[in-house]
Amino acid sequence: MDHQEILDFAIHLAHRGGAIIRDAFNGQGLSVDAVAKQGNPSDLVTEVDQHVERTVRALIAERYPAHRILGEEDGMADGQTTGWTLANDRHVPTWIVDPIDGTTNFAQRFPFTAISIAVSDAEGNLCVGVVYNPILNELYSARVDGGAWLNQTTRLPFPHGPEAAARAPRSLGECLIGFEHGSDRSPAVLDSRLASHRRLLARSAGDNGEGQVHGAQVRGVRCIGAGSLDMCLVARGAYDMYWEIGSHLWDIAAGTVILREAGGAMLSGCGLYGRPEINTAKELVTEAAFDPLGRKYLAVRGAADHPALDPGSGKAAMISLARE
Ligand code: IPD
Repeated sequence: MDHQEILDFAIHLAHRGGAIIRDAFNGQGLSVDAVAKQGNPSDLVTEVDQHVERTVRALIAERYPAHRILGEEDGMADGQTTGWTLANDRHVPTWIVDPIDGTTNFAQRFPFTAISIAVSDAEGNLCVGVVYNPILNELYSARVDGGAWLNQTTRLPFPHGPEAAARAPRSLGECLIGFEHGSDRSPAVLDSRLASHRRLLARSAGDNGEGQVHGAQVRGVRCIGAGSLDMCLVARGAYDMYWEIGSHLWDIAAGTVILREAGGAMLSGCGLYGRPEINTAKELVTEAAFDPLGRKYLAVRGAADHPALDPGSGKAAMISLARE
């Protein structure tokens, strides 16, 4: 498979879908009005999500008729399965498409929304990722061994090279963290998220006045409402980590390629104990099965020496976050 050719086409698709999203956002096309999916008012869909997905599906099917497509709104093109049950049993390249990540933002005209497109090869290895925010005109792209790029001109992370290493956080206290609350508001998941959020923000053990909670006292936590963009912000070097429970494959597959090419790593909560790094779409899927509370993911930049992975500093904190 020619990764560069696939990447070029994925970028073309992102621009096609992005133009539809931008027009609607600016009041010039389809409506941004949203309806709740499966009765969950925190999980929205608009006619733009559906139209963009259909447009992108048709273009992929025309260009690569043998490839498989997984999209957030319509599942598998062959009607076989959706989301986390993806198993690459047919050994064909698979396109993983989120037509609008951050649908709530889109419906509110909050300008952090993106189209996300990833491709895994016939063995299930994620090889191409594109995330495009058409409102801010920021396009993140990567292919395996090709580096990660912003708008195809700026190498990520920015700054790159030795300067990036110098900016690496030395403790969790120096980290700015992306954190999402997602759409699953069931009590167990919500309690886990809120407890983790609190641990991140709470004063560190050294001067903790409350006795019970020993927090990481990170520099700050941001919730922008679009997982794909959270991952790109880690790749960019703006965030040091992104943490979420309950991501779907289409939210994070493209971001995983971009993040890894920027020198970061995608980890699963439970993987911190045995198989920390996720490399393939199949692993993203398989990890979901291990965790009774759902899917927990942690994206970090500067993987090798990140404080979240260092037993001497942040590891204990991150393990308790993952174990919550
Ligand atoms: C959602 C957003 C949100 C994240 C959820 C995702 P959607 O995607 O990325 O920030 O917390 O987990 O499902 O539904 O807007 O495409």
